[in-house]
Order: sequence, then C-alpha cells, then structure tokens
Amino acid sequence: MEKEQNKVTFATRLGIIFATAGSAVGLGNIWHFPTTCGQNGGAAFVLLYVIITLLIGIPGMMGEFIIGRNGGKNAVSSYRKAGGKKVFGIIGAIGVLGGSLILGFYSVIAGWCVYYFGLALGDGVLGSQEHINNTFAHLMAPDNYMPCILSVAFILLTQMIIVRGVRKGIEWASKIMVPTLIMLLILLIGASCSLPNAFDGIRFLLNPDFTKLNAHVAFKALGEAFFSLSLGTACLCTYASYFKEETNLLRSTVEITLIDVAVAMMAGLMIFPAAFSVNVEPDAGPSLVFMTMPNVFEQAFPHSVAYVVSVMFYLLLTIAALTSTISMHEIGTAVISQETPLSRSKAAWVVSAFCSVIGVLSAYSLSHKGVGLFGDSFFDNFDKLTANIMLPLGALCTILIVGWVMPKETVMAELTSGGLYPRRAWVVKTFYFFSRIVCPILIVCIFMNKLDII
Ligand code: PHE
Repeated sequence: MEKEQNKVTFATRLGIIFATAGSAVGLGNIWHFPTTCGQNGGAAFVLLYVIITLLIGIPGMMGEFIIGRNGGKNAVSSYRKAGGKKVFGIIGAIGVLGGSLILGFYSVIAGWCVYYFGLALGDGVLGSQEHINNTFAHLMAPDNYMPCILSVAFILLTQMIIVRGVRKGIEWASKIMVPTLIMLLILLIGASCSLPNAFDGIRFLLNPDFTKLNAHVAFKALGEAFFSLSLGTACLCTYASYFKEETNLLRSTVEITLIDVAVAMMAGLMIFPAAFSVNVEPDAGPSLVFMTMPNVFEQAFPHSVAYVVSVMFYLLLTIAALTSTISMHEIGTAVISQETPLSRSKAAWVVSAFCSVIGVLSAYSLSHKGVGLFGDSFFDNFDKLTANIMLPLGALCTILIVGWVMPKETVMAELTSGGLYPRRAWVVKTFYFFSRIVCPILIVCIFMNKLDII
C-alpha cells in the first residue's frame, strides 16, 4: 500500500465530529457508565460525572486537540513539537502504549458483545434466569476459547477499517456507525420508557439523593469521565492531527463532550427504566448487560418484542465498541507508519499483533483463576495500569504542556484557528486558569486516590 502523506485530513466537519465522538462514545458510556452508576447510587453519581466531565473534560480535550493539530502528525511527533524537545515524545509514546493496552482488554468485552449479538440473532439469549446464567457461565468456562478468538477477531475487524485510511476507513465507518448507534439508542429508550413504572428508573437517574455523595463516588466519577472521553491516551491528539486548519477546536470540543455525556445519559435511560419496571436492581456490576438485561427484556416485553430489543441492544454495544477500537488502533498505526519505513498496512499488522497478545492474555485470565499479577487477572492488571496510572498521567502531562510549556502564541493560533475565529478574553483566561491550575490539581488528586494515597 502507498505510504500515506502526513497531512491527511478528515473530509468534512461532520466527519470530524462523528469520528471523534465515535472514539469517545463506547463501552465506557453504554456498559461501564450504567454499571458504575447503578453501583454508586444513581443520580448523585450522574451529577458529579456531568460536572467533572465539563470541568476537566473540556480543557483536557482542548489540550489534546491543540497539541495534535499543531503537531499535524502522530502522537509522539506532536508531543515532541509541543514540548520543543525530543524527550516530550515519551509522553506521546506512553499515550500510544496506554491506548494499545486498552485496545487489548477492551476487545475482550467487545468480543462478548459480538458473541451475544450472534446469540441474540438466533434467539439464544433470552429465556429463564437459569438459561441466562448458564449462557454467561459457558462463555467464561475454562475450556471455552471463544473469548480469546473473538477478541483477536475484533482487533482484526478494526484493522480492516483502519487500513482503508483516514477518510475511506475511519471517517466513512464513523459516519455510518455513529448515527446508527444514536438511532438504536433512541428506539431502545422508547421501548424501555414505555414500560409500566419506568418513571422509577428515570428518577433513579435524574433525581439525586445528596446523602449518597462522598469522596469515593467523586473519584469514581472522575475516572469514569476520563475513560469515557478517551482522555490521556493520545487518541484525541492523533485524530486532531487530521483536523483541518479551519476546524474550530473550542466548538468541536464542546460538541463532542456534550455528545459523550448525552449518550451516557441515554444509556442510563435505556437500562434503568426497564430494570425498575420489573423490579430488578441495576447494581449487578460488570455482568449488568450480559446477565441482568436479558432477564429484564424477558420479563418486560412479550417474547417477539424482547427478541427485537435484544438484537438491537447487542448490535448497539458492538457498534459502540467498534467506533472506539478504531481510534485506539489508529494511534499506534499512525506512529509506526509515520516514524518507521513500514507502510500503513504493515504498521496496522504490528499494532494488531501486539494488541492481540494483550487481548488473548486478558481473555484467558478471566476464565482461568490465578492467571495474572499481584493477585488480579491480567485483564484487571491492564485495566488498572491504564485507568489508574497511564490515563491520569497522560492527561496531566498534556494539560501541563499546553498550560505551561507551549508558547502562548501557538496555543492562541490553535484556539482561534490562525485568527479565523475571535479571540475572546474570557475564553483564554478560563482556559489558562483551568489548564494551569484547576485540572492539574484535580488530576493529581485522582492519581493519589487511585494509588490509595488519599
Ligand atoms: N472512550 C471510550 C469509551 O467510552 C474508550 C476509550 C478510551 C477510547 C481510551 C479510546 C481511548 O468506551
């Protein structure tokens, strides 16, 4: 395949929004957010999540966009340029490694979603509680290698899109998948909210019980916001290198953040009303969408409707996962194809091979007790390493570079797209106040909390 030129861009503004929102919207919003929300008291958690996403998310995403578009190349090169010294490339490299590790273990859950989608099509998901439990237990059985195979298959599916390039691959796929995802969500919300007692679920999501607020919930919400916005992995930075010169970074950031929060809320509106209508507590943890939801569908709807709902639900999860894995794959593929003589397709093979090893280790460790380090499974090892260390570290370095290291004129040139958009004093002041002081302090707090220091 022909070696891609550095200044490849997304073709349209809509393409930029869909591709970047597709990266942000993923299993984090549709699987992890309702799960964590269910376990941490509902609306109080949601409130903190929304506030934190807006407070840290907007400056954090802006920071990555500024570094990415200013660099115009892969993450390692863009961080080098932003910091003005070669050593800053390491921050980009940590982001790339983090994104690749996430792709590895994320593809395991994505594989489960594909498996459940296939089962749902053949009407194999619904049934008695015993059948539902057995289905999940079978998937996780030590002699079942399906999760390993599906994890690798999902990475290869992602690669097939990546190798088609930025416009014909990423942008094209996102333009189809993101609107489909939103449509499926709306249909499923309609089905869920039309059930009797659905309002109890809406209240759980929207009516905060302030007694449930505490530091633990706040830190959970911080971590959730990070992962959900794809912050700290250089994903956003890599995508920003494909933005056009005239792309308005501030406006795009606000739009993408709002889409991400809206989708998380919509996922809650899809899950909680249905669960509450049949008196099922939505606090099951990670098995929520694989064990609780089939049971909810079975009880809440006549079988034919439950069939259609379950097919749409697992298709939705699969699509959400794919739009995110594309962005995780792209970070590594961009670095290797631009920094080495390898072509884009060969670079993609290297990324897939590395992530497949992580994926297989993660999948295998979930079905074999004792496979992993420090008493955890490899899956949890990779999850904790990225969520507790690499993501906060990446985001902290990003925000510090933009706030303190990059020349102010460069930051301003990006904020205003070279003077194309007005330079508003309050925007500049707020941006610097947050990126120099507020965000670093908050991120250091998350970091210390995750490492059990506070
Ligand atoms: N934001 C994605 C989600 O919510 C996950 C992700 C993390 C994607 C880091 C890219 C990089 O599922």
